[in-house]
Amino acid sequence: MKNLTSKQLRQMWKDFYKEKGHAIISSASLIPENDPTVLFTTAGMHPLVPYLLGAPHPAGKRLADVQKCVRTGDIDEVGDSSHCTFFEMLGNWSLGDYFKKEMIAYSYEFLTEKLGIDKNRLAVSVFAGDGDAPRDEESAKLWEACGIPREKIFFLPKSNNWWGPAGQTGPCGPDTEMFIDFGHPCGKDCSPACDCGNYLEIWNDVFMEYNKTADGKFEPLKQKNVDTGMGLERTVCILQGKKSVYETDIFAPIISAIEKLSGKTYGKDEETDRAIRIIADHIRTATFMIGDENGITCSNVDQGYILRRLLRRAIRYCKHIGLDSKKLSEIAKVVIGNYAEIYTELKTNAQKITDEIDREEDRFEKTLQGGLKEFDKLCHYLVGDTISGKAAFKLYDTYGFPLEMTQEMGKERGLKVNVEDFQKAFAEHQQKSQAGAEQKFKGGLADNTEVTARLHTATHLMHRALKTVLKDENANQKGSNINSERLRFDFTFPRPMTAEEIKAVEDMVNEAIKADVPVVCEEMTVDEAKAQGAVGLFASKYGEKVKVYTMGKYSKEICGGPHAARTGELGRFRIVKEQSSSAGVRRIKAVLE
Ligand code: ALA
Repeated sequence: MKNLTSKQLRQMWKDFYKEKGHAIISSASLIPENDPTVLFTTAGMHPLVPYLLGAPHPAGKRLADVQKCVRTGDIDEVGDSSHCTFFEMLGNWSLGDYFKKEMIAYSYEFLTEKLGIDKNRLAVSVFAGDGDAPRDEESAKLWEACGIPREKIFFLPKSNNWWGPAGQTGPCGPDTEMFIDFGHPCGKDCSPACDCGNYLEIWNDVFMEYNKTADGKFEPLKQKNVDTGMGLERTVCILQGKKSVYETDIFAPIISAIEKLSGKTYGKDEETDRAIRIIADHIRTATFMIGDENGITCSNVDQGYILRRLLRRAIRYCKHIGLDSKKLSEIAKVVIGNYAEIYTELKTNAQKITDEIDREEDRFEKTLQGGLKEFDKLCHYLVGDTISGKAAFKLYDTYGFPLEMTQEMGKERGLKVNVEDFQKAFAEHQQKSQAGAEQKFKGGLADNTEVTARLHTATHLMHRALKTVLKDENANQKGSNINSERLRFDFTFPRPMTAEEIKAVEDMVNEAIKADVPVVCEEMTVDEAKAQGAVGLFASKYGEKVKVYTMGKYSKEICGGPHAARTGELGRFRIVKEQSSSAGVRRIKAVLE
């Protein structure tokens, strides 16, 4: 077996397929463009679905690449020595061109000649056949012709030897998989389907001749395709003779950065190793997610929620090894440096990556300690072994603990979480917010969570900043609408704002946030409020006495609340859009990050 670096393996893959008449294409984005059923690109074939279905690919019928992939099905498994959430897939395709004969020959040649794997250390599996597709005798014969003996060719059912579709519908088919055989079968029935560890899959050739339809049927495709995938990390691990992907050249610089920053050594005790692996994996994945050409940021839905889970889990594990979580963006810099040559988008977006990690760290750090205390208290008083959905929801809503994190922490103490009740509490909360949104529409506040209170406070700061920056005391509020993601603010002003003005407003709001002044509420008459210079557009809607919210020298406004307790709780303020709303009225959308 050849001891190759990851860089050499990528190059060898491309050279091999170039020589076999393939066009080498570049990796597509991690965020799938036309498939709402999956959050991330999970395989090399994913961006190629239209071509597997029959559309002509501009580069031809033979393609190969190295594709960035993310699989998040088992985030909570990461920490052991083999799971990773991000990986690179070496892939090649025949779009209605060659099929089983050529592909099996290519696979055998690459494994034995290029990687130098002894054929006696190989085993393969092929599809056993069922009502949807026949037994794949053809592939078995082709392997035999290469020199793989019958007893090393295993016929397995759909659960093992069928791949795809990547989403809910699309191209799929029977496959033949290649394994390293460690030569210690656990018994006479041991096979690659067994999880004793004797067989390690390294490559998968899928013969994509079917299309799975929405009603679960398998229709023959217009063309017979080949789709293959070899995991770069895993293969490098085998070639470098390491026990774990975390010991390969791919992770070594990341692990050593974590060692340096934490003062801990990898490879001494299992608990420390686990935390180091979690941090290494999650920061690598987060770096690719944020730095992608269609990069994402943290949020409470979809891809953004997965990113948030990864970062918050990494932050939590920093505590296990005494690593200051403010240093996580330093680790991201090592990841960027490692990959910058191949994935130039990471270099282009380097600042964005470290900023987003820092921002999320900042946001979570504010509530993490409180949340951990609440969790301890909860466990202390818990009767039975199940954390209620309501308690888990409180941890989510007030302290920003993703449900999965509460579950994981529970598991560490032998506790379960009532997920169904959590979901009920979540849905109820959303309904309430919805009802609140209708009632409070006039006040412009959509619900009462802390997040919206903060955005509401930011709205006041921005209102004042707009008047100052635009030198226009008549830049008055015309409407305000807030949800948990952003604020929307309409105000009277005759022209678009310039980029400089937008920046100046952002700076002024952020200055007020940095000053961390208390938000003080007082009751007074409308006249008193006016006399104090309070902004008070909606004064006529209130009764005799009104509430006036004052934020140091930065804002004074008549308002019903609620607000954050201090401006320092707001995070970073950013205007994401400034546009026309109607004649003489501008609309701003802004977020707190
Ligand atoms: N699409 C196949 C896989 O991901 C090659 O294993």
